[in-house]
Amino acid sequence: MQTLAWTLSLVLMSVVAVVFLKVCSGANKGPGDAGNIATIGYRWRARLFLLAVVSGVAIALGTLWTWPIEGHARGATQPDVVIQVTGHQWRWDLSQDTVDVGQTVEFQITAADVNHGFALYKDKTTMVAQAQAMPGFVNRLRVHFTEPGEYEVLCLEYCGLAHHAMRANIKVRAKETQGEEQ
Ligand code: CUA
Repeated sequence: MQTLAWTLSLVLMSVVAVVFLKVCSGANKGPGDAGNIATIGYRWRARLFLLAVVSGVAIALGTLWTWPIEGHARGATQPDVVIQVTGHQWRWDLSQDTVDVGQTVEFQITAADVNHGFALYKDKTTMVAQAQAMPGFVNRLRVHFTEPGEYEVLCLEYCGLAHHAMRANIKVRAKETQGEEQ
């Protein structure tokens, strides 16, 4: 899909460029009585436009060739842990609530009843990541845990009377304590 979109964009960009160049070359024949200055001006305009098109294509190729968003590129690395998350009125159901620091976790988020908002906080104040929890859909959210500690899941979408009570905890274990706790 990504490759198709990319190829299509390239083709369309080329078509637009060719059309513009045709218009430019036609415009060069136009000035007639407008004199030398106009002719030179049009010529330079065409040159600068060509330069803009060529550098635009080159920059697009250079910067967009590898898709920058992790998890969407073909052949992207697999997560270390997958946690199934289901939002209910009014609690979070997590298939697992403990991971190790350094792991990349993919949350597969859905809802059993109404829309909820899955929001992951560190130290109760900093939001690390969030995604919508929707009935009938699974939204994937990847988080690379670089800091150990207690993380809290809150609900960001008003979902009824006890919306504020939708809380869950995720523990990210530090490397050195892994052995002791298992
Ligand atoms: Cu669930 Cu608000």
